[in-house]
Amino acid sequence: MLVHGNKKKKLETETQKLNWTKNKKALEHRPKPHSIEAQNIPLIDLSPLLKHPDSLSGLVVEIGDACQNWGFFQVINHGVPSKCRQKVESAARKFFALPKEEKRKVSRDEGNPFGYYDSEHTKNVRDWKEVFDFAVQNPIIIPASHEPADMEMKELFNKWPESLPELREACDEHTAEMEKLAFKLLELIALSLGLPKDRLNGFFKDQTSRVRLNYYPPCPAPHLTLGVGRHKDTGVLTILAQDNVAGLEVKRKTDGQWILVKPTPDAYIINVGDIFQVWSNDKYESVEHRVVVNSEKERFSIPYFLYPSHYTWVEPLEELINEQNPARFKRYNWGKFRATRNYELRGSTLLKLEWIILLELGGNTLLELGGSTLLEQGRRWREATSLWATFVALDSLSYLTMGNPREPWIALSYLTMGNPREPWITLSYLTMGYNEGPWIA
Ligand code: OGA
Ligand code: NI
Repeated sequence: MLVHGNKKKKLETETQKLNWTKNKKALEHRPKPHSIEAQNIPLIDLSPLLKHPDSLSGLVVEIGDACQNWGFFQVINHGVPSKCRQKVESAARKFFALPKEEKRKVSRDEGNPFGYYDSEHTKNVRDWKEVFDFAVQNPIIIPASHEPADMEMKELFNKWPESLPELREACDEHTAEMEKLAFKLLELIALSLGLPKDRLNGFFKDQTSRVRLNYYPPCPAPHLTLGVGRHKDTGVLTILAQDNVAGLEVKRKTDGQWILVKPTPDAYIINVGDIFQVWSNDKYESVEHRVVVNSEKERFSIPYFLYPSHYTWVEPLEELINEQNPARFKRYNWGKFRATRNYELRGSTLLKLEWIILLELGGNTLLELGGSTLLEQGRRWREATSLWATFVALDSLSYLTMGNPREPWIALSYLTMGNPREPWITLSYLTMGYNEGPWIA
């Protein structure tokens, strides 16, 4: 191929640029050695709701400022009995302590995303965690497929472990409290946007909200992995109960630093999700967050994700847009958005062609298992797919059942696998990359 001198130069610069971006991405998927323990996200006292329900203006301003400046805040005096919280935390501990076979009896499957799951990926990098998910409404009704023209609906049921009946009971009680708190917050946030307090309530007639129990086991190489990779929550708002082990980090809006959220006993952490960002036409941005793990302590957390009815069209609220501030988002259908996301996530797992076992543990030891076949496999993968080969997990190392895919990317790129970050970037765009994705006007 004949390439004109100038053009070639340009191509090289583009490649350099691309490599630089790739490296940057790769680093972003790893924790920094030190995160800043903040001056913390705002701590808001909700007691005026009980004591002075007629004069909430101070509280409303506080919440509005927190949503705008941080996208995150903690609440105390929220009215959720601490007994109820302790009960659900203790049941979650018991559940994750069950033998794997027992937990797998309630595994998530192809048709139903609820139940137990231990190999979740965020932006196609495996998270160091196990989860248990359930829907707030049971059964829940959602679109059967992601196809826009397909009007068929399906019903999904929660799965509960028979051997631990208290899990269901504790979750039901705690979820009812979360729901009450979610609607109080929804009203306060509506007021903070200058809207009538019940302006948003109509979106939740058939809410698709869900709850997750997260379990982050101790990790032998915490500097190489994350409990949850950086992400934004897609829903309206999230209420998170974290135990007393720190781990959640929030990306500070002012300077992009990761700020560790110090646990406050009995508090809940609130963040606005993508839907609030769209509704508020960017006034309240959905902020990135992630979870770091540590080598000593396990950590538990329980997020409640407030989601609207599946038939909701998500778009900037008409009261909040005008000629000076036109809509910045195209509308999208919530149920179809979720279905598309699940569909693409399923698709992407097909691209995890084989497992490579390659891990840098704690610094110097390079553990390379099945190494001699690695190059050969790499070659075969490249021939078999138009995407460059790719995925790393450590399932077969029994002591590392959670897998650690981060550091090996770099090792792999030295092993003439080409550049393994490319498919990852492509895939993250296809799957989780909706924030930069197709619905932005
Ligand atoms: C999540 C999440 C944070 C945590 O599950 O979306 O951000 O502390 N969890 O577990
Ligand atoms: Ni989250």
